[in-house]
Amino acid sequence: MTITIVGAGYVGLITAVLFSELGNQVFCIDVSQDKINLLKKGKTPFFEPGLEEYLNRNVKEQRLKFTTSNSESIPKSQTVFICVGTPPAKNGEADLTFLFGAIAKTAKNIHDYTLVVIKSTFPIGFENDIEEIVKKNTKAEFEFAASPEFLKEGTAIEDAFHPDRIVIGTNSKRAQQILLDLHDALPGERIICDMRSAQLIKYASNAFLATKISYANALANISEKVGANVEKVLAGVGADKRIGHDFLKPGVGYGGSCLPKDVLAFIAQANAFDYNFDLLRSVDAINNSQIDIFINKVREALKATEDKKSNLEGLSLAILGLAFKPNTDDIRDAPSIKIIQSLINLGAKLTLYDPKANENAKKIFPNLEFTNSVYQAINGKDAAIIVTEWPEFKEMDLKNVKKNLKRPIIIDGRNLFDVAKMKKMGFKYFSVGR
Ligand code: UDX
Repeated sequence: MTITIVGAGYVGLITAVLFSELGNQVFCIDVSQDKINLLKKGKTPFFEPGLEEYLNRNVKEQRLKFTTSNSESIPKSQTVFICVGTPPAKNGEADLTFLFGAIAKTAKNIHDYTLVVIKSTFPIGFENDIEEIVKKNTKAEFEFAASPEFLKEGTAIEDAFHPDRIVIGTNSKRAQQILLDLHDALPGERIICDMRSAQLIKYASNAFLATKISYANALANISEKVGANVEKVLAGVGADKRIGHDFLKPGVGYGGSCLPKDVLAFIAQANAFDYNFDLLRSVDAINNSQIDIFINKVREALKATEDKKSNLEGLSLAILGLAFKPNTDDIRDAPSIKIIQSLINLGAKLTLYDPKANENAKKIFPNLEFTNSVYQAINGKDAAIIVTEWPEFKEMDLKNVKKNLKRPIIIDGRNLFDVAKMKKMGFKYFSVGR
């Protein structure tokens, strides 16, 4: 089948390599000429393990083409996947400018029956607006479906080829069949439903994952107060098959381009439909307070007192990890950003290091010092602060770390090390919920 993917961002590129690898003729279009030029050279605009390899193979075998031209690809395609961003607007609602623009341009180039599949996350209740845009721009026959994605950054390729479920949100039998055929080679449960249910599945899944994380963080906070070890607590809780161990790791809170935004969007949409989603408000509040709790831990570790305003003044700290999670260079809504801002406000002098995200972080913190290795970052510092659980931090030579630091203090937001072992090695080691 010939397919067009609109949007060469994260979701669009993964979807493009998925369908081309499955043997379809895929066009991937984007408004940015720079991005398309980069992709034509076989380079991706962001880091995702395995993506370049898949991309280059499918380009070489001529199943995948990149273009900025809608008229080159859309008329040839029976199915068009809309994969553009729906970032939060200033008022917290989703900004649908890109989505509406992409749909209008798509519609202008539709001549025969076309199925328009929306992969972008978009608010419930906008189906009619979208349909109106298409009707205004074409007389040709078209249908809509929502088919949300559930890709995790860092493992997106694996997730795309081994999905837990494929959601097909449309009441049209013809559209359902096209999407069933397209996904035929993939495993995973098929959930066939109406468009609104499909959208709700997306929001509800991300909000549930966020809820699990906030629950784990709340348990970490209680564990600290009562003197329990949250790791043991969660090992016991997660062993119940009905609960499971996944997404129960406490830390500095969830970040990234989806969980924080989707929780807030879900609360706002529930509100618009007259439902007060207090549960999710608490999930969000716990997530925000997790940063404050962590900052207080840093102050406590460095014996900074409440009464001095800039009470980390004169201290030099290494920040290890900037990406919102390992195996990505993405810093969107990363906990590191709030942590860095708070520590700067408290007067600390920071040196930053991330194995992949330094370049992205430099755009936000152009005046801070960055290093290219963990040992350079910690050299002569009053403490090391671990924000992202990169494997290379877990594998650090701790004897060397101790030698390099001015004071043997580590504040670990990801529980990478054994508390007893760190104590034995002479570290002052602070972690989460233990
Ligand atoms: C998420 C969803 O998992 C995915 O299905 C959806 O399509 C997009 O949003 P992603 O944002 O890539 O994926 O990252 P995810 O692995 O879910 O992690 C999100 C955040 O939660 C990270 O900051 C991570 O560090 C944090 N997290 C995750 C925890 O703090 N504890 C956990 O147990 C799991």
